[in-house]
Amino acid sequence: MGAAVQDTGAELHDFLPFHYPSIGEEEIAEVVATLRSGWLTTGQRAVQLEQEFSRLVDAPHALAVNSGTAALHLALSAGGVRPGDEVIVPTFTFTATAEAAIYLGARPVLADVDPVSGNLQPDEVARWIGGRTRAVLPVHLAGHPCDLDAIGAIAHAAGAVVIDDAAHALPARLRGRPIGAVADATAFSFYATKNMTTAEGGMVTTAREDWAEFMRLRRLHGLSRDAWKRYTADGSWAYEVVDVGYKYNLPDVLAAIGLAQLRKLDGFAAARRALVARYRAALADVDAVGLPEEPADAESAWHLFVVRLDLDRLRIDRGGVIEELRQLGIGTSVHFIPLHRHPYYRRVLGASSREFPGAEDLFARCVSLPLYPAMTGADVDRVADALRDVVRQHRR
Ligand SMILES: Cc1ncc(COP(=O)(O)O)c(C=O)c1O
Repeated sequence: MGAAVQDTGAELHDFLPFHYPSIGEEEIAEVVATLRSGWLTTGQRAVQLEQEFSRLVDAPHALAVNSGTAALHLALSAGGVRPGDEVIVPTFTFTATAEAAIYLGARPVLADVDPVSGNLQPDEVARWIGGRTRAVLPVHLAGHPCDLDAIGAIAHAAGAVVIDDAAHALPARLRGRPIGAVADATAFSFYATKNMTTAEGGMVTTAREDWAEFMRLRRLHGLSRDAWKRYTADGSWAYEVVDVGYKYNLPDVLAAIGLAQLRKLDGFAAARRALVARYRAALADVDAVGLPEEPADAESAWHLFVVRLDLDRLRIDRGGVIEELRQLGIGTSVHFIPLHRHPYYRRVLGASSREFPGAEDLFARCVSLPLYPAMTGADVDRVADALRDVVRQHRR
């Protein structure tokens, strides 16, 4: 844990993990209260989490689900994605983004990304959009908002919808509006490493009443509204199966963690910003390391701190830097191995025959440094010092 390495002495050699969750007594108390309440699965706590989340991101409808992947799947189905449709997805993402389209029999059309931010750009959307495109699926990589206004204009003009993958983007804003209130529907993830966690979980938001109703039904087996109440005093034993749905509901035991996390979200966001400022100051003089920037007109969620190595100035590659940092006791990661590099996507999409210069350039040089509220300023300095030393040793 970050706190264990803040000063001097033997602990300095402890491993600083890439991520450590911020779970305190508040989360533990909420979970214990839920376990004691006699109601474990989806119930009042999930409903309360939805209400608070809907206010937070200024979206009329928020539906709690058991993963970000489920949120993406439901949102794409509400958007009318069907077998044979195309969905534009940036190649620089986690497989869940494209997988959700594949669940529906659609074909992900992989798009290239900006080599600095890793985000999908409007001109790439314009390049790939066509008569078969039913949805565009931008990912706010590392929490930096994509230009949803420009992407939305292109998509809507072509009769497509925009579903944004905001797994990294809580809380984030674009031109003053919260991510979650801008696209046709937005999918959030509460996976263990995300800015807010329920261990596993997610949320889908939309302003569209009909989409919300569609997703509410399919989230729980296609059962008629409020079927979860059937074992409560105000519920009824009677329910109808209105359609085929999924088992995507978020249990109250997990929603309880989310309620406590939501109350801390402003503090988490401030802590992330402070750590980012510290990284920026500490690495300002390291010219072989490019630092991430917050996009103009946007507030980033700073989920990740992705630096870019200037490989022309180094005699070591990205993998080598990661290994040397590991030997110095620092955990890092890579976000992401582009989809077009994976065997499945090469096989199914023939992606190997296409070129993705922006994604390839970024993939060769990117390293995600540790960034989470449990870190101290001293942890940041330690990571920055280690990176500076590695880079200095391998300078051309
Ligand atoms: C960009 C992105 N999209 C989607 C997901 C899927 O979220 P989940 O793990 O909650 O299903 C993740 C991460 O896990 C992600 O990083």
